[in-house]
Amino acid sequence: MPYNYMIMEAVQLVDTHAHLDGKQFDADREETIQRALEAGIQIITMGTDLDSSEQAVHLAHKHEIFAAVGIHPHEAGRFVKNNQLDSRVLTRLETLLNEERVVAMGEIGLDYFKDYSPREAQLVAFRDQFALAHRLKRPVVIHNREADEDVLEILRDGDAFGVVHSFTGNAALAQKILDLGFYLGINGMVTFPKSGVLRDTVKAIPLERLILETDCPYLAPVPQRGKRNEPLYVRHVAECVAQLRNLSLEKLAEATTGNAMKLFGLERIICS
Ligand code: NI
Repeated sequence: MPYNYMIMEAVQLVDTHAHLDGKQFDADREETIQRALEAGIQIITMGTDLDSSEQAVHLAHKHEIFAAVGIHPHEAGRFVKNNQLDSRVLTRLETLLNEERVVAMGEIGLDYFKDYSPREAQLVAFRDQFALAHRLKRPVVIHNREADEDVLEILRDGDAFGVVHSFTGNAALAQKILDLGFYLGINGMVTFPKSGVLRDTVKAIPLERLILETDCPYLAPVPQRGKRNEPLYVRHVAECVAQLRNLSLEKLAEATTGNAMKLFGLERIICS
């Protein structure tokens, strides 16, 4: 679809965190992506290991969307040897990061809730990828689950920039992340009845640090909750956040889309 059609849309959004390589999209990946693009929604699809990152880049080229590449904490154990992220993996990630339409290093981080990989391996993979992103001056997309202190420590030491995605914490944690210059990514969890603390946080975050995402196929927002999630539903997240902030959907979309364009450098790519 030509970009000039998209700017005619009243509301443009960016789903800054999707997992379109997932098998949940095997039957209708193409249609799902087109549905979003036709509704004025751009997409950044994440890598979670080397194969998934290659897939993300392939999808970005094929459909004129965007990709991030990286090793997810769940997968870290497979790629860390002798207390280092395999150098061939780092070299491959660097090559992918230099491809067109690859806008970030992600999804990287720490997950001490599921602990699918040993924590030592998660820390090594996170630090090494964070350092690579810093060297290449690219933003990072960070996954943090029950690992606040270790994530903050790495963010503090590292001076890379980016977003803490799927943020669900309180205002105090949000402030610590904002103080380090990071953005916060908000998804469908903000619409869940039990997310009162998150909704209070979302009211208090400076608008210029807020970006939206779906984390699809997971975490479908109300009123699609329980179904497979997809980029189109970022609109429900936007509606909820707009309401919380007493803004029109148009204003909220303009701000968060502008933030995503700036953080990930999307304008440079779309307009070139
Ligand atoms: Ni994710």
